[in-house]
Amino acid sequence: MKRLVIVSNRVAIPGRRSGDQGGLATGLAEALADRGGLWFGWSGRLSDAPGTPHLVTDPPITYALVSLSHREFEGYYLGFANRCLWPVFHAELHLMHYDAASLAIYFEVSQRWTELLIPLLEDGDVIWIHDYHLIPMGLSLRKRAVQSPIGFFLHTPFPGVDLLRALPGQIRLLEELLAYDLVGFQTPLDCQSFYRALGFFLPEARREPGGIRHAGHFTGIESFPIGIDVEAVTHLARSGRNNRHGQRLGASLTGRRLILGIDRLDYSKGLANRFRAYARLLERWPEFRRQVVFLQIAPLSRIEVPEYDAIRQKLNAIVGDIHARYAEYDWMPLRYMTRGFPRSTILGFLRQAEVGFITPLRDGMNLVAKEYVAAQDPETPGVLVLSCLAGAAQELEEALIVNPYDIEEMAKALAAALAMGVEERRVRFRALMERLRRNDIHRWVTSFLGALACSAETAPEA
Ligand code: F6P
Repeated sequence: MKRLVIVSNRVAIPGRRSGDQGGLATGLAEALADRGGLWFGWSGRLSDAPGTPHLVTDPPITYALVSLSHREFEGYYLGFANRCLWPVFHAELHLMHYDAASLAIYFEVSQRWTELLIPLLEDGDVIWIHDYHLIPMGLSLRKRAVQSPIGFFLHTPFPGVDLLRALPGQIRLLEELLAYDLVGFQTPLDCQSFYRALGFFLPEARREPGGIRHAGHFTGIESFPIGIDVEAVTHLARSGRNNRHGQRLGASLTGRRLILGIDRLDYSKGLANRFRAYARLLERWPEFRRQVVFLQIAPLSRIEVPEYDAIRQKLNAIVGDIHARYAEYDWMPLRYMTRGFPRSTILGFLRQAEVGFITPLRDGMNLVAKEYVAAQDPETPGVLVLSCLAGAAQELEEALIVNPYDIEEMAKALAAALAMGVEERRVRFRALMERLRRNDIHRWVTSFLGALACSAETAPEA
């Protein structure tokens, strides 16, 4: 088996897994757990002294961790990646802040990381680059004559043409993507958006079965919905249910029914509308007052980005309003926390929730939705209320699918979830679990790597 080299900005560093690191790190950690390989990425530290990667071995994975300079952190991570690409890819154009200096630093980071990665590469490696932070790395590696197959996977949604038109430098980014042997997306819809963008911005690129040929090079294009390690999640959820935090949560409910949301605190997660929908439930169906508790855990994320501070303040105000309106001296309707918990604790909380309330305004996949299902007790499973704009909704059809902009619909879905009988819940749960098992994290890795091997063998144009 060829050695797998993964490159991503965020790395699930052993001993530092906090449970609030997002779906990418969770997915890749599970993906590499049995196969092993080299995982290259950001250490999470800032240092202006240029250094070589810090190697940490935790078999079967070797981590190669690099720091970012303060300038890179500002321009690449906070700047172009998270104030430009992130809002555009999540259809929040009004939140985009572009500046040319950040774009230049974004390219510089891929260039610098390429130089740091090359000495660690071995003949026969397969290289897999992840997410919007590092799009230019494929071409950088090729320019340095790296011969290995190189694939790219985008964890976020891919935006439509109208959004991309507003993104400065979009043609160069598309060309950079076409330097890969395979570009993978979360859903077929993302693939369609990519093809449309190529048709619009690079009409000379030629469509061939399974991909695109551009400047003589073939790039495979396919969707690979990321999954979870179903058995591991179920197992962790069972043990997490009974750990100290799981027991404390259970005791604190005093028989009330738990609605739970878990998301990084990000404007793309739709928390404001979610809170409003919950308030609507309490207003329209007063019989649920005092009977339910909505716990929203939203660990702080990208706090240096002003738009994240703005959403934090907005949510604080909405939560305050809900408390002022509905709280009683012996009942708090909404518990809102911005700290993270270890993964097993989060999974144990998910197991206790009668409703998983996951309603992003846009999301590449949303692994918490999948984890919620796998965490359930098969005898008394809860109900997933899921946004139609999460990639996961394209697979998890037996969830209650809602439009995250429609407050009334979300409130009704909450009421329906709370009223659903156990038979129907079991039927939905079994169907959802079947899908999760069919499309798990192991299948994600093997199908991506299988397709990458095929694409890389596609002959250059004669
Ligand atoms: O899953 C999308 C994603 O942006 C990942 O790329 C990222 O690792 C995760 O969310 C968390 O964000 P951040 O790395 O900025 O904390």
